[in-house]
Amino acid sequence: MTSDWCPSNWRSKPILQQPEYPDQTLLEQVEAELHHSPPLVFADEIEKLKGELARVSQGQAFLMQGGDCAESFAEFNASKIERTFKVLMQMAVVLTFAGGCPVVKVARLAGQFSKPRTVDTEMIDGVELPCYRGDMVNDITFKPECRTPDPQRLLKAYNQSAITLNLLRAYAKGGLSDLNQVHKWNLEFVKDSPLGEKFQDLADRIGEALAFMEACGIHVQQRASIRETTIYTSHEALLLRYEQAMTQQDPENGGWYDTSAHMIWIGDRTRQADHAHIEFARGLQNPIGLKVGPTLAPDELMRLIDLLDPQNQPGRLTLIVRMGANQVDGKLPPLIRRVEAEGRRVIWSCDPMHGNTVKTSTGIKTRNFEQVLAEVQRSFEIHHAEGTHPGGIHCEMTGQNVTECLGGAQAITEQGLEDQYATRCDPRLNAKQSLELAFLVSDFLKRSRAGS
Ligand code: PEP
Ligand code: CO
Repeated sequence: MTSDWCPSNWRSKPILQQPEYPDQTLLEQVEAELHHSPPLVFADEIEKLKGELARVSQGQAFLMQGGDCAESFAEFNASKIERTFKVLMQMAVVLTFAGGCPVVKVARLAGQFSKPRTVDTEMIDGVELPCYRGDMVNDITFKPECRTPDPQRLLKAYNQSAITLNLLRAYAKGGLSDLNQVHKWNLEFVKDSPLGEKFQDLADRIGEALAFMEACGIHVQQRASIRETTIYTSHEALLLRYEQAMTQQDPENGGWYDTSAHMIWIGDRTRQADHAHIEFARGLQNPIGLKVGPTLAPDELMRLIDLLDPQNQPGRLTLIVRMGANQVDGKLPPLIRRVEAEGRRVIWSCDPMHGNTVKTSTGIKTRNFEQVLAEVQRSFEIHHAEGTHPGGIHCEMTGQNVTECLGGAQAITEQGLEDQYATRCDPRLNAKQSLELAFLVSDFLKRSRAGS
């Protein structure tokens, strides 16, 4: 444990990307209320995830992190969460069965409500208002009363996270996770496509394998590992007032746990070594993710690793690399070499989304699926060449039939983007694109595990 740390130390450090709340009294009341509210996740679950991530860091498992770019209050319903859950399960089973590797599932859900922004304000027709920073802060509607940061939204996000977690826990332990029913994860709009058929094929093979074991007298079908799963939660720890309010000291081991999610990450814009976000994260017991973008030099990365993981604890630190397909070749190898030379046991995860965001000629934010795949492919090849383990992927995806990223088997075009463009912030992979990505990653995994 870090003895020179307490959950409020970050307040004396420089901080970026925070909203300006006009009502400080209300803000403090909300922080106190959150502080007295029940935890969303528990210390033993957090430690269990850390143990599983330790296996990932040793090359014995694969981390799959995915979900919404930003959750929303308006589009909150059970069906949406169930669909995202099903796609996450499909991706995980593809990686487990086809890739031959245990998968640690971490959702970007139940707390992913705040967004870092490039500029603080937005100007439309000569009117300037604060930018939208996620539903936990303000409303996306371009009106002064909507864009004003409202502390009550922190409570609403907490409550929505609790309900989301309740659903995730129920899906994970109920029939929806049963490998005997794997074909049920195919969503209706995926079913009749070649990808849906490829998944159905895999589901049939799993069914045959289970039936074969049963026939041999190995009774696996009723086992918890076949019928249930564990899905962890994660989000960007951007709003430190919320994260601090949710942080509690464990009475048994004395460690500090951010009980808002199992894993939190620090974004690429708020990872300055002497700033508030790193100060806050370094004292927590949770597994920490660090976004690693093209501007992070090896020396600075080492400084951050020393701060976030001074004990070189396997499973503690995941580097979520998001260079962009065009930069990964130049930027990733020097970082890997330095971290390896210093003997640090990090997880190398690949976020092929955030370095590949572009705007179309009509100003729509999108990502080209080919670039997403290319960044994953290059990352795997680089790790193979460097002798390191590609430990995970991190993606923005949804179970909705959206058209937000260009390309993929559906061949979404620039015109097609407007059909179902529903994201609050960044463009997400739809269910088909997510499945396509999972099959591709499973091929790489199989090859890298075979040592070819
Ligand atoms: C994100 O993950 O939504 C995000 C903003 O990423 P990054 O910090 O890598 O830009
Ligand atoms: Co994003």
